[in-house]
Amino acid sequence: MHPLIVVQVSDIHVHPDKPESLVMHSVVRDTVTRLQPALVVFSGDISADGHVVPDMLSKVKKLLDGWGLPWVAVPGNHDVGNRAGIGKHEVTPAFLKHWIDVIGDDRFAKKLGCWLLLGLDTQVMGSGLPSEKHQLDFLDAQLQTADRENLHVAVFQHMPAYLNDPREHVVGKSAYWVPTGPVRDALVKRLHHPRVKLVASGHVHWHANFEQDSQRRIWCPASCDLIVDDSHFPRGGGCTGFMKYTLTDNAIEPTLIKLPLKAQTVSLVVD
Ligand SMILES: [Fe+2]
Repeated sequence: MHPLIVVQVSDIHVHPDKPESLVMHSVVRDTVTRLQPALVVFSGDISADGHVVPDMLSKVKKLLDGWGLPWVAVPGNHDVGNRAGIGKHEVTPAFLKHWIDVIGDDRFAKKLGCWLLLGLDTQVMGSGLPSEKHQLDFLDAQLQTADRENLHVAVFQHMPAYLNDPREHVVGKSAYWVPTGPVRDALVKRLHHPRVKLVASGHVHWHANFEQDSQRRIWCPASCDLIVDDSHFPRGGGCTGFMKYTLTDNAIEPTLIKLPLKAQTVSLVVD
């Protein structure tokens, strides 16, 4: 196949009524559009609490449509909420419905050449909502498709499945960053499918690029002016930017594109 470019933008947190947020959005849009990607994947937190601010999600959608590029998105905690006890708002059927009505489904499957790109909604994991189970069924069905059609798989999601080790169970404040419990273990098991070559996430406002169990793991940094540090994170990932992926027949090559945003760095924030 001809090499294809896919861009991952995470945690852009657009606030359509704040001029400084619109300026940042323009910087990201202009940098991404210069690359002319075949697809832009927004891995969550496209908005600044669009589930509770009236009309915010529809205004953000209009801005993202204005990039003139094909795009897909999965929600983050600032778009639909989070599992109970984590962060400000608990994800509810109404918040999810709002996302689906305005943006589209909260997960996706997209074929590009010999690649199958999957988007998962980590916000429902641990919520007890029906879509938690439906999503695992969806993932199983997509992995079967990949087997049948001989496709490589790249997975995009808001939260990383784990921080440092697939067997870890993060407790305390840092549990904010990852799903927990049986559904997290069910996800990790599926992500170890041999067709999965890349698992790319956002949420942590920190960059990492490492290999685990023969898979590439990418933490896409935030495309806004906030860097978050946590002692559990691998060192050296403090930047703002987004990820560019070059897809070929047998490889997916990640490149970090840094953004010239005036960012502040804070230690673990949980809101
Ligand atoms: Fe987030």
